[in-house]
Amino acid sequence: MKALVLAGGTGSRLRPFTHTGTKQLLPIANKPVLFYGLEAIAAAGIHDVGLIVGEYGEDIRRAVGDGASFGLRITYVRQERPLGLAHAVLVAREFLADDDFLVYLGDNYLQDGIAEFVRRAADEPAAARLLVTPVPDPTAFGVAEVDGAGLVVRVEEKPPCPRGDLALIGVYAFTPALHEAVRAIRPSARGELEITTAIQWLIDHGLDVRAENTTSVWRDTGSVDDMLEVNRHVLDGLTGRLDGKVDQDSAVVGRVSLAEGAVVRGSRIVGPVIIGPGSVISNAVIGPYTSIGANCRVRDSSIEASVLLDGADVEHAGRIERSFIGRDAVVAAPPFPYAHRLVLGDHSKVHLNP
Ligand code: DAU
Repeated sequence: MKALVLAGGTGSRLRPFTHTGTKQLLPIANKPVLFYGLEAIAAAGIHDVGLIVGEYGEDIRRAVGDGASFGLRITYVRQERPLGLAHAVLVAREFLADDDFLVYLGDNYLQDGIAEFVRRAADEPAAARLLVTPVPDPTAFGVAEVDGAGLVVRVEEKPPCPRGDLALIGVYAFTPALHEAVRAIRPSARGELEITTAIQWLIDHGLDVRAENTTSVWRDTGSVDDMLEVNRHVLDGLTGRLDGKVDQDSAVVGRVSLAEGAVVRGSRIVGPVIIGPGSVISNAVIGPYTSIGANCRVRDSSIEASVLLDGADVEHAGRIERSFIGRDAVVAAPPFPYAHRLVLGDHSKVHLNP
């Protein structure tokens, strides 16, 4: 079995971050979201991977290379414009040849991996095998209607009035039967060749389309809130390791991964927290659930449940929560931005934060 990993697209919901880079390279716990998918594919025993890339193809090539570090052989397939998931299958026709294949959306995170799913796809072949999970708002996803025996009777892309709550996760297993479907279908109202339309074509032509429910933590990391939530899940499994320097005036509590070359001075770090190489934290409180990339600077600030990308600089910022701060972004406030008016009783103690 081969895998086709989709890392093209525009990432419009993740603007402004996707103005200058691709969403699949945004980090979760300091590792690009795409890497989690590639690792899951390798762990499932698939080695031949076609990687669909668009506008930011060069960035992805630089980050992933030939795939050897993942135990994969990567073939890059250029999709000139993001014309839909089924269009990506169309442009990868030559790479896919007549093999069975997995389609993996490069912005999806699945905590428990896909090994079981891939094993079942090999043992019990079906024209299409889908992974589904109940969601509170199915209008944001492809939605599957499944009968009692696990056969899919209908799929719809982002239906305004969903007939059920089972969302399609961005991992699908197909036989080469899908190629005829992607050639036959027409673009949807939003102008894309939808993978759901191609799957419906398979159902309408009497082919076997099966769904299996997963209880694994899953997120389509299409928005900042989703990114922060996945960051939290991944940090929950973090192993603490202090390779950087922590001075005597600092406290490190819980699981903290401090990369070599990172420095912590006069600060309190409350895990789970990951801090990348070259970052300097002074007079700050960091964590829990915070990922700080490489070469960041945080001074006189408190940061919780947030992500800082490489080179971010935060100074005198007070308390920051649930924030996603881009590469080389600067957050600064003057040390004494406002006046406090105080009426204090005798012997009071007040600790003022900047
Ligand atoms: O995340 C699961 C959902 O993914 C499914 O429930 C939907 O049925 C499926 O259509 C898809 O919906 P999205 O709207 O989230 O798809 P998105 O446009 O975000 O694209 C998913 C990935 O595929 C992303 O990594 C970008 C890439 N892509 C997308 C398009 C449209 C491409 O490589 N080429 C494309 O033409």
